[in-house]
Amino acid sequence: MAATPTPSQLGQIEQNPYKADFPLLANNPELVFLDSAATAQRPAAVLDAQRSFYETMNANPLRGLYRLSVEATQAIDAARAHIASFIGATDDADKPQKNAIVFTRNASEALNLLARTLPQVVELGPGDDVVISIMEHHSNLIPWQQVCAATGANLVYLRPDEDFCITNAEIEAKIGPHAKIVSVTHVSNVLGVANDVAAIAARAHEVGALCIADGAQSVPHVSVNVRELGCDFLAFSAHKMGGPLGIGVLWGKPELLDAMPPFLTGGEMIDSVTETDAVWSPVPQKFEAGTQDAAGSYATDACLSYLQQLGMDKIEERERLLAAYLCERLQEKDYITIVGPSQPERHIGAVSFDVAGVHPHDVASILDMQGICIRAGHHCAQPLLSYLGWHSTCRASVAFYNDKSDIDRLADGLDQVWGIFNGSR
Ligand code: ALA
Repeated sequence: MAATPTPSQLGQIEQNPYKADFPLLANNPELVFLDSAATAQRPAAVLDAQRSFYETMNANPLRGLYRLSVEATQAIDAARAHIASFIGATDDADKPQKNAIVFTRNASEALNLLARTLPQVVELGPGDDVVISIMEHHSNLIPWQQVCAATGANLVYLRPDEDFCITNAEIEAKIGPHAKIVSVTHVSNVLGVANDVAAIAARAHEVGALCIADGAQSVPHVSVNVRELGCDFLAFSAHKMGGPLGIGVLWGKPELLDAMPPFLTGGEMIDSVTETDAVWSPVPQKFEAGTQDAAGSYATDACLSYLQQLGMDKIEERERLLAAYLCERLQEKDYITIVGPSQPERHIGAVSFDVAGVHPHDVASILDMQGICIRAGHHCAQPLLSYLGWHSTCRASVAFYNDKSDIDRLADGLDQVWGIFNGSR
């Protein structure tokens, strides 16, 4: 894609056939929602599926021997298969690895599951390295800080260069012979840049380490294929894709999931229990203690169908145009500094920025008075902001249901913010 949207590309993002699918957006035509990196809006297809589950198949999955419960179980099972094929998790015969899909509450819980269980598998201890990047969301940072504090392993950070790129030289230098676990974000929730997970996974495997990819900000926006990434685990959340809140996904290589101990214990994750011991169920049930959110799984399945009907390639192209246009409109303003790459085409979803002399919280509050939603603060990535020399920033993030007018409204809104603090311009 060219760096600057051409007139015909601008024409594409002027049109918006998608907003009508999203009741909250359709019912609030004046609202400008530019915070999809925090959570996406839900299409009617997802809301309908959630309601339909409760109206037609509501029962506790896995436990009952009657039709409703069997249907609830089947709903979860079908969602697992759909998710596996959506992320390219297929076996050599091209069959979706549905049992390699573990449901959690969110990506954070999936990453915590890994941080609690993998150290036992790799026998992590003093002298070993856990490698993450300085771009991590706290969800993929604090769990590893805790693991290192408990085991005596070192926490090593991959750091981007001045162009916000984690270079091959950095990957080679930091992922060394002591590395046992490497866990990196695919796309930064602050900078919007993609990291080269394939290169990071290849290096991790070269030195005998496992590689985890945090796909929370990539799976909603680009086609992600775990075989192409070469990672051992992928974590993401349904709610950032338009699915329900409260559904997270962990995919792992089956042999690794088999080797891992359970994370949470209780009902439904056991084969048998005695007064003194228990035998775990096979994966994925081993990792899914307690009653599962079958309605959420069913609605996630519907969300994937909706996205696939639109076409992930079309979604990706439109969102890249939107992010590039957003970047350009911000770059026009001499009072704005983009915190991230200056090349518009390198932004996936999110663009962070600073308004000179105005606190990001003030920017967000004044924009809110104009019906414009952005995020302001440290974006759950305090070490990254400190590393870059910022305390907090503004962040606008797009999804395919945005259009050119949303971004133009933001650009005008920012002029008003600036005018309030500096006299009208
Ligand atoms: N991880 C979400 C964000 O970046 C909450 O806003």
